[in-house]
This record gives sequence, C-alpha cells and structure tokens, in this order.
Amino acid sequence: MYRTHTCGELRMSHVGQAVTLSGWVQKGRDLGGMTFVDLRDRYGITQLAFNLETNAALAEQARKLGREFVIMVKGTVAERSSKNNKMETGDIEIICSELHILNPADTPPFTIEENTDGGEELRMKYRYLDLRRKPLQQNLMLRHQAALETRKYLSGLGFMEIETPFLIKSTPEGARDFVVPSRVHHGEFYALPQSPQTFKQLLMVSGYDRYFQIVRCFRDEDLRADRQPEFTQIDCEMAFVEREDILQTFEGLLKHVLKEVRGVEIGEVPRMSYDDAMKYYGSDKPDIRFGMKFEEITEIAKGKGFPVFDQAEIVVGICAKGAATYTRKQLDELTEFVKRPQVGAKGLVYARVNEDGSIKSSVDKFYNEDHLKDWARQLNAEPGDLILVMAGETEKTRKQLNELRLELGNQLGLRNKDDFKPLWVLDFPMFEYIEEDGRWFAMHHPFTSPKADDIEAMMNNELGKVKANAYDLVLNGTEVAGGSIRIFNKNLQAKVFEVLGFTKEDAQEKFGFLMNAFEFGAPPHGGIAFGFDRLCALMGGVESIRDFIAFPKNNAGKDVMIDTPSVIDEAQLNELGIIVKNENF
Ligand code: AMO
Repeated sequence: MYRTHTCGELRMSHVGQAVTLSGWVQKGRDLGGMTFVDLRDRYGITQLAFNLETNAALAEQARKLGREFVIMVKGTVAERSSKNNKMETGDIEIICSELHILNPADTPPFTIEENTDGGEELRMKYRYLDLRRKPLQQNLMLRHQAALETRKYLSGLGFMEIETPFLIKSTPEGARDFVVPSRVHHGEFYALPQSPQTFKQLLMVSGYDRYFQIVRCFRDEDLRADRQPEFTQIDCEMAFVEREDILQTFEGLLKHVLKEVRGVEIGEVPRMSYDDAMKYYGSDKPDIRFGMKFEEITEIAKGKGFPVFDQAEIVVGICAKGAATYTRKQLDELTEFVKRPQVGAKGLVYARVNEDGSIKSSVDKFYNEDHLKDWARQLNAEPGDLILVMAGETEKTRKQLNELRLELGNQLGLRNKDDFKPLWVLDFPMFEYIEEDGRWFAMHHPFTSPKADDIEAMMNNELGKVKANAYDLVLNGTEVAGGSIRIFNKNLQAKVFEVLGFTKEDAQEKFGFLMNAFEFGAPPHGGIAFGFDRLCALMGGVESIRDFIAFPKNNAGKDVMIDTPSVIDEAQLNELGIIVKNENF
C-alpha cells in the first residue's frame, strides 16, 4: 500500500498513529541532528523528520533526496516542538522509520512552490511541473467545482447534456474557423465548431427543449488574456421560452455557482440596455463595481471659445470621488494614458474641486469659476472630487472615456476582485456596419431574432435601426455569457442572410440544413452560452483564463510543451492531398 493518508490530512488527532505517505519531495533541510523533508501531494504538505541519532542510515538517505523525488515513507505521527501555523498540517510531523525512493527526479527547471522563480515560457514548457504548484491546483479545483455545480443546477431544472460533433461545417460567428482536411475526400475540409450554435437549434427542432453542454469551442482569432483558440462554453438552449425565461434561468445559474464555489451571494442582477451602457459607460460590458457614470456636458461646455469643445460632437465627463488630490504629475500621466495609440484620444481636460469649493481647471482660459461650477453641478462633483472631460466624435469619445474610467477605477482601488457585480446588457443592435468590409454584419450571429417591433425596419433595409433580441451577461466588466432569442421562421431567416450579403444559393449551401429544419416544426427557442474559462478566472480573481486551463496555448497560439503547431511529414500531407508551399519542404 502506497499510502494510508494524503499529505494534507494529518492533524493533532492522529498523533501516535502509524502512517504511510507518498508524494514529491518539495525541499529538505538539515538542522543539527535532524533532517526535515517537506513531502507534497495535491492535498498539501507534511513535514517528515529523520533523526540522525536514532536512525543514522535512514537520515543519511533522507539527506540525499533531491527535489521532486517521488518517495514513500512509513512512520509515526508526532506533535511538533515548533509548530507552523501557516501550514494546515503544521502541528504535526512524521517521525520516519522507512524511506523508499519510488522514482528519482532531475532537478526541476524552476522551484515548485507557491511562488516560483520560473518565467512564463519555461513554466509553459514544463506545464506538468507548474501544475504541481498550489495556485494552479486550486484553480483547477475551482474549475472542477464550477463544472460540477453547473451540471447539478441545470440537470435539476431538467436540462439534458447532449454532445454535438466537433467535425462540422463552418458556421459564421465572426472568427475564423480551424479546419481539418479530409483524407477520403481530397480538397474537402471539416471545420471545428466555433460553438455548437446550429446543432443546439436543431436539437430544439428535435424536441430536446432543455439542452446544455460543457463544450470545447475553437476560434482562430488573436489571443488576449481572456481569449484562447480553444476554450470552453457552458452552452445552453431552451424551447418555448421568451427572453425573460432565459434571463431568470441563467441568472439563477450564475447565482448558484457563485454561492457554491465562492460562497458569494448576489442579489437580483440589474439590467441595462445596450444604448444606455454605451451612453453611461462607453462600453457594452460596463464594470459596475464602481460609479463614475458618464455625464454629457456638451450643451454647457460649448460656445465658450474653446475650439476643442466647440468642434466636438460630444463633451462628456466623469467625476472621480476624492481624487482632487491627484498631483500635476498624475494628471499628466492620465493625459499620456489617453493619448496612447491603444486609446487614441487627443487630450484630456480636468477640473479639481477644492475643499473650499473653488474649482481649478486645465482650461481656465476659457471657463470661469461659474462655468466650472455648472460642470460640477451636472457631474455631481463635490469638494475633493476630480472632474475629467473628453470631447470629440460621440462613439470614439465614449470608448476613450471608458478606458480612462477603468484605469481610474484601478488606480483608486475600486475594482475589488472579491466584489461580484453582474449586469445584463439587453437589446443589442442587430447589425453593425464594418467600414473595411463595406458591409453589414450580424452583431451577435445570424440566427438571432430581431426585436418584434423592428422586423418592419429590417424588411425595409433600415438596418442601423434594428435591435436584436440579444443579451449579454457581464461580470465585473467582462462578458461572461451571450445569447439571444432565435429566428425560427424560414423566411425571416432567409431575409437575415440576404441583408448580410448571402446570395440565395450561398445561404442554401451553407445553412440549408437549418432552414429546411425550420420547415419541419421548429418551436420558438432561445439560448445562451457562458465562457466557462472566463467565469472560472473571474471567480478565482485572476485576469488570465490561461491559469484556469490545464494545458493552454501561449500568446503566440502555441503549445510549447508538445511543440504545436508543427510541420507534418510529406507522406501524411500527400495522403491528405495537400501541397504546402513552405521552405520546410
Ligand atoms: P459568443 O460568441 O458570445 O456566443 O460566446 C459565448 C461566450 O464565450 C466566451 N468566449 C471566449 N472565451 C475564451 N476565449 C475565446 N476565444 C472566447 N470567445 C468567446 C465569452 C462569450 O460570452 N453560440 C453563441 C451563444 C448563443 O447565442 O447561445 C456564442 O458562441 O464569454
């Protein structure tokens, strides 16, 4: 028997018991006549003690153990003379009587402890070693629990988990597809699913009115901290529902998982229209852990001779509570921040509301104290507050001010990772016009239903006016889920394809299967998909979803541990009927 207990299990109540433990040597130290070894497994760390006086041979053997050796020991649990209250097993140690080396190990390329000296790239290459570290173990445990609680909650409501295929036909959802060549049909390709969207809709036609799946999705898009080329969704669909049913059901899922996994209770999730989100936060995913709502002061700011404001479509500001203490240097840094190419603003105007109520601004030349007091009134600024104002073209300026707001939120410590503030964002535009492509795209996806009131506008090709029956669930400024009520009428679906620029033949070729299915009794339906990795990362209080994926890709989309993507040999390419123009051949 390799072990009677794990390395995280033994306490004072076990003192005197004979035990067997197995695990990895984290580190050893020699103190006088004693050798101590920290033995680790995924449950914790237990101190092993070897006494040179009572068992010299064994102590000598223990001294020679290297880091990460896999060993088994037998011994007796004893109370420690100097306890370590930072360790769960810190009250006890094992006085060892036997030591077996199950497998020696090379010296690891970085220290495998809570804090490591290993750089990112090295740790990715030896991911299996990094995964031995407690922070990553805790992340994977959180992920496991979140998946378990998701299954419990949804199964409890009668949802069935049904698998859908990975080798499919491409579905247009914004990103590029990863494709898989067919060996049997040269020149033909499968696509890996960007999501199971069309399949879950077909399942509704089949009558599985409550479907879910914790499922891998694949998108060939640029990586970011919250994006991986393969990621996991909690994908869901329901039939015979309206938006309200979906919002209630999945607000419930978020509540359940947050409570069971993090012990956090959230109340009713507030709702905001897309238009308001853009107007008050300059973002379709507002972080509502803090205020600093936008206030437009266009009317009162114009006409005072300041050309930047006079020429602007919009003048909009935020009030940072208590930030009047910001120094000139800090304000210059904020100005630099908004001028970075990533934000792209031309400048920033500020006004400090002093403790005595007087106001000092960076545009005193154009605005006297009374003018500035009007600003302060509109922005609800009080003594001690800082007003920041940006101006220009509406959409751009709002987006830039959003960046500034988030930066200030960070600087002022208002974005506490243990504070969970979800928000439903509703009524997204149905279409967006992409300048570079010179055409309209579906903002969510082409299967989303327009709002009933806007169908007429769509039929009249007034696409900019059409709102979709689509919703996003935002958590702390991150989009954790998105979905919509779907089209279930063949003609309406055909119209959407038409306005998106598909010819009838194209639409038939790509989506004929779905439109045909709509002829065979499709129920009204709708659904949503959560970004499961994002949800886990948010619950774990970490920005990067990579830390919650056992084997993620690096920033360049590579897995440096298994070295992929990589070339494949010519014979294999021939078999697939692929000719590669590449210097490797
Ligand atoms: P959508 O494209 O909004 O909707 O995706 C749903 C959720 O998946 C997460 N997500 C990602 N997470 C990590 N890496 C990525 N590359 C990535 N892309 C998306 C986000 C997002 O909210 N079929 C629809 C859902 C529906 O309509 O029911 C869909 O896939 O958290």
